[in-house]
Amino acid sequence: MDISSILQGGYHHPLARTWQSKRQLTKSMLMYPIFITDEPDASVEIASLPGQRRWGINKLEGFLAPLVKQGLQSVILFGVPLKCEKDMRGTPADDPAGPVILAIKKIREHFPTVYIACDVCLCEYTDHGHCGLLNTDGSIDNSPSVDRIAQVAVNYAKAGAHCVAPSDMMDGRIKGIKRGLIDAKLGNKCTLMSYSAKFASCMYGPFRDAAGSAPSFGDRKCYQLPPAAKGLARRAIQRDTAEGADIIMVKPALPYLDVISDAAELAPDHPLACYQVSGEFAMIHAGAAAGVYDLRTMAFESVDSMIRAGATLILTYFTPEFLTWLDD
Ligand code: PBG
Ligand code: ZN
Repeated sequence: MDISSILQGGYHHPLARTWQSKRQLTKSMLMYPIFITDEPDASVEIASLPGQRRWGINKLEGFLAPLVKQGLQSVILFGVPLKCEKDMRGTPADDPAGPVILAIKKIREHFPTVYIACDVCLCEYTDHGHCGLLNTDGSIDNSPSVDRIAQVAVNYAKAGAHCVAPSDMMDGRIKGIKRGLIDAKLGNKCTLMSYSAKFASCMYGPFRDAAGSAPSFGDRKCYQLPPAAKGLARRAIQRDTAEGADIIMVKPALPYLDVISDAAELAPDHPLACYQVSGEFAMIHAGAAAGVYDLRTMAFESVDSMIRAGATLILTYFTPEFLTWLDD
């Protein structure tokens, strides 16, 4: 055998295998998505998301304390309003007595080291379930949608969110939110993480069950990207960096590793997030339950692939498990 044919000597030992990756998963790369409802004492299992619950504001401290002790450093909050009056402009989104704003304050008070991101969208709060405001014919009315989304983002930042993350996919919302943050004198106190390349995926199903945010008519294809649209994703990433995004995100993650890799090339000077979405999480659980693979091995393999593609921040429902596994 020729000398140059031999690679195995370089990775025969478990430690040497770890040296073959440019970066490895650490606890600080994990952001945990959590669902907060307006039932203050709720702790309700979400059937389609194994191990995940809808939490009431009074249960947050007890739920988060052991995770923070294990090294949880950041969360992203999703509001799940069950009792509020939804309307066409998503008024309950930034209700000062609503679950998201109360949760921001509660977490800051009890866990001052935890970095709090807030998903910003209207679909959980509009009566029609779409992510923006609509014209009378049911199409998206872009400009008032951007204004309303920016207003919600600024109100989350005012309440103490360290990061606002718009997931709505309205054109121009990054510029609108950045302007709003600057005008509110929060430009240097709040990170703007853009769901830049968010695809119209079938993998958000369990999330929509959990958050009650499925649209009442139509779908989201006129604002979320077509799954095969590599060029549009690249343009959205470049646009959002130009409009002032501090972090770029690709979502879903595992089926879009090439887009993560493109984002790493197009925005090399930004942190790069990817969202291992509800359907990916449910799929990994279902495969493990069916005996296809070991849950932990597959969870690591999926996230290691995202890191290899270029991600520096991972939003994942596996965060509590990873905090335990990374200690082993
Ligand atoms: C709301 C939103 C969705 C997700 C995050 N924010 C659902 C959607 O756009 O339909 C999906 C997250 C997941 O599936 O885990 N705009
Ligand atoms: Zn939405």
